[in-house]
Amino acid sequence: MTMRKTQRIAVITGASSGIGEALARAMAARGTHVVLAARSTERLDEVAQAIRRAGGVATVVPCDLSRPDAAQRLYDDVTRLGLEVDTLVNNAGFGYHGPFESEALEHLSGQLQVNMVALAELTRLFVPSLLLHRGTVLNIASTIAFQPAPFMSVYGATKAFVLSFSEALWAEYHDRGLHVAALCPGPVETPFIDAAGPEVRGTAVFKHTLSIDQVVRECLEAMASARPTRVVGWRNRLLSQVWPSFPARAHRPHRSSNDVRFPMLIGYRRSAVKPPFFPAV
Ligand SMILES: NC(=O)c1ccc[n+]([C@@H]2O[C@H](COP(=O)([O-])OP(=O)(O)OC[C@H]3O[C@@H](n4cnc5c(N)ncnc54)[C@H](OP(=O)(O)O)[C@@H]3O)[C@@H](O)[C@H]2O)c1
Repeated sequence: MTMRKTQRIAVITGASSGIGEALARAMAARGTHVVLAARSTERLDEVAQAIRRAGGVATVVPCDLSRPDAAQRLYDDVTRLGLEVDTLVNNAGFGYHGPFESEALEHLSGQLQVNMVALAELTRLFVPSLLLHRGTVLNIASTIAFQPAPFMSVYGATKAFVLSFSEALWAEYHDRGLHVAALCPGPVETPFIDAAGPEVRGTAVFKHTLSIDQVVRECLEAMASARPTRVVGWRNRLLSQVWPSFPARAHRPHRSSNDVRFPMLIGYRRSAVKPPFFPAV
């Protein structure tokens, strides 16, 4: 039986911690029924209980998005619950910082699977329901999407995919009532940073972190606005404009105090890296 639609219903991946958890709480506080998806069932239950105690509605659907069939399973689980989804937040993701040859193959393919494959498949599966309800897709990309990122090469490439994919879908669906947006935060103080590797905090870009509250505010604004892309924070907005013209040095572990103070200038030299072309959508 399909539940009669009396409130907005959002599936949020990666809702067990960090940005996803905070966004789920914020959306639930604004009256959205949130469907919380991630691997850590206990943690998801705690988040759901906290939302219910605050008067909100939350449903837990555990999933491991690194599995090849994960998107279909999550979609089937949500459909079995009779929930008509009008908002999809593709937030789950993780990164690896370090020399490319040091990353374990399983970790590398997990990143591709969670950050890109599951995101694209979930979007495809939920699109009919989202179109029906003139809904929203919010994809969490990153400012790393704007430049190649040595020592975070795979993660950076996955986020470039998320940005490109989101902007293309925005153009495809914006006159059909479905809003697709990519949010590009810079570094945010979440468990993501330490999980990416011990050297991350020693890099120039991770010297300045955003608060989760600011990112959540911008997520809500990105969903409410008609624009395809939102970069969080003035510093990141500025850097996302100039980064494509610079060689990608900002993610290297820094070696001197100069690298910390002037990462972009110290890193500057003409390189074979061509600025990516972003169509003016
Ligand atoms: N923090 C930053 O500096 C930063 C900057 C730019 C963009 N981002 C992006 O923001 C998003 C959220 O990250 P965060 O900063 O909030 O980090 P986080 O606190 O580590 O959250 C990551 C979330 O993804 C979930 N996840 C990871 N692997 C999963 C899997 N195999 N299946 C299902 N869920 C999985 C985790 O849940 P479980 O472990 O319970 O599965 C967790 O809920 C990510 O896409 C990240 O790339 C982060």
